Amino acid sequence: MFNTRIKIKVLLENEAAGYPATVMGWVRSFRNDQFIALNDGSTNNNLQVVASLGNFDAALLKRITTGACIKASGTIIASMGKGQKVEMQADTIEILGDSDAEKYPLQPKKHSLEFLREIAHLRFRTNTFGAVFRVRNSLAFAIHKFFNERGFVYLHSPIITGSDAEGAGEMFQVTTLPLDGTAPRNTDGSINFKEDFFGRSTNLTVSGQLEGELAAMAFSDIYTFGPTFRAENSNTTRHLAEFWMIEPEVAFNDLEDNMNLAEDFIKYIIRYAMDHNKEDLEFLAQRLADEEKQKPQQERSEMGLIEKLEFVINNHFERLTYTEAIEILKESNHNKKKKFQYPVDKWGIDLQSEHERYLVEKHFKKPVILTNYPKEIKAFYMRQNDDGKTVAAMDILAPGIGEIVGGSQREERYDLLLKRMEEMQIPAHEMDWFLDTRRFGSCPHAGFGLGFERMVQFVTGMSNIRDVIPFPRYPKSAAF
Ligand code: 4AD
Ligand code: MG
Repeated sequence: MFNTRIKIKVLLENEAAGYPATVMGWVRSFRNDQFIALNDGSTNNNLQVVASLGNFDAALLKRITTGACIKASGTIIASMGKGQKVEMQADTIEILGDSDAEKYPLQPKKHSLEFLREIAHLRFRTNTFGAVFRVRNSLAFAIHKFFNERGFVYLHSPIITGSDAEGAGEMFQVTTLPLDGTAPRNTDGSINFKEDFFGRSTNLTVSGQLEGELAAMAFSDIYTFGPTFRAENSNTTRHLAEFWMIEPEVAFNDLEDNMNLAEDFIKYIIRYAMDHNKEDLEFLAQRLADEEKQKPQQERSEMGLIEKLEFVINNHFERLTYTEAIEILKESNHNKKKKFQYPVDKWGIDLQSEHERYLVEKHFKKPVILTNYPKEIKAFYMRQNDDGKTVAAMDILAPGIGEIVGGSQREERYDLLLKRMEEMQIPAHEMDWFLDTRRFGSCPHAGFGLGFERMVQFVTGMSNIRDVIPFPRYPKSAAF
């Protein structure tokens, strides 16, 4: 058996001394030919491995370089140095993998996030990305735990689909037809997808919701958690072309039940990360505080990361209608002084992220749930309100992020749904399977989608969404 190691996290938490141990990991730095800072990814903290002078070959010592992978065995002893309670007095050190110090891109110094994005295959080995991806892992686990404790069924919705769940047309085509102009065509010149792999036109899913609704009409409570794809050409710090989404769908829930579920859910997963990733969050809080110091005074956020998370857990999300929000925005000094790039002049406009952030960061200074949007700016499946103008939609807006959740009560009335699909030119004949839920045992139901990366951004305080997913996909970039 090769793997006889103890994880550095366990060893450091243990704080006991006077026992033999073996550790394995990657060298972060090597000082004075004696002190190795070793990291194995179980924690941001390094174990100091001491290679006492005279005990090791010069040839071996030369191979202990930043980035090298080593196995060290020895005795865990109380540390004289500051910063750690225990360290290892090494008896043997074995090089598992050399790392040419001259060529290794990750030198033991501060690198910019932009540079690290170019070497995303190595950035896991930095403190920042170590912390970010351990927090991401915790949040993912907490999501499953939350729904599992509430008796939800985890549904695997398809990745390849023939439907456009959001009706927004921002889809990546999936095809095996040749792209050299020889693809089979119909008499009118269009591509004949009957000849394609699936015998029809298909795309990567933009949302698992529609399939989720089918399952909710049997299990009552389901959730999906998987990758979704949007071919929108948005080069922002909040958009990815491939992102993960969590979509619960619940039979017998109305809009208010839906908001309550979303608020409980968000608070639960934040609390989980705070309880289980204290050190990582403290590290990220410090990183953010340092970053904030570079900004002009008026752009700095008022709260530190931990403070902000605690605040969110301990306060109700502000709930108001779209109509009320438009009034607030319209009457704001910000609008009157023409400080919005998109002025707020009339009811019916789609809210831009500058508007959402104004409401959350300047006006309410807490997460906000906006409800009952104009039907024209929302998807076909949302339940139509009696006023004939709005739908039972809800978006949750978070400080520093903007929209983090989008959801709604669904239109469960067959006739109204069909009419809306026709109005919005959604091909109802191709979605007979979806309409069947309204034909056979329809019921009030609701659900929402949480953008996982936006949630990870919120909890880690990372300002760019490309830094919270291991290998980001965005316009003109799909490296690794
Ligand atoms: O608001 P959206 O488009 O809603 C839906 O897809 C619904 N089917 C959800 C549902 O009701 N089941 O997307 C939901 C969330 C957004 O609030 C946002 O957090 C995230 O997904 N999101 C993105 N995240 C990263 N990059 C993108 N391009 C995103 N587009 C949406
Ligand atoms: Mg949305």
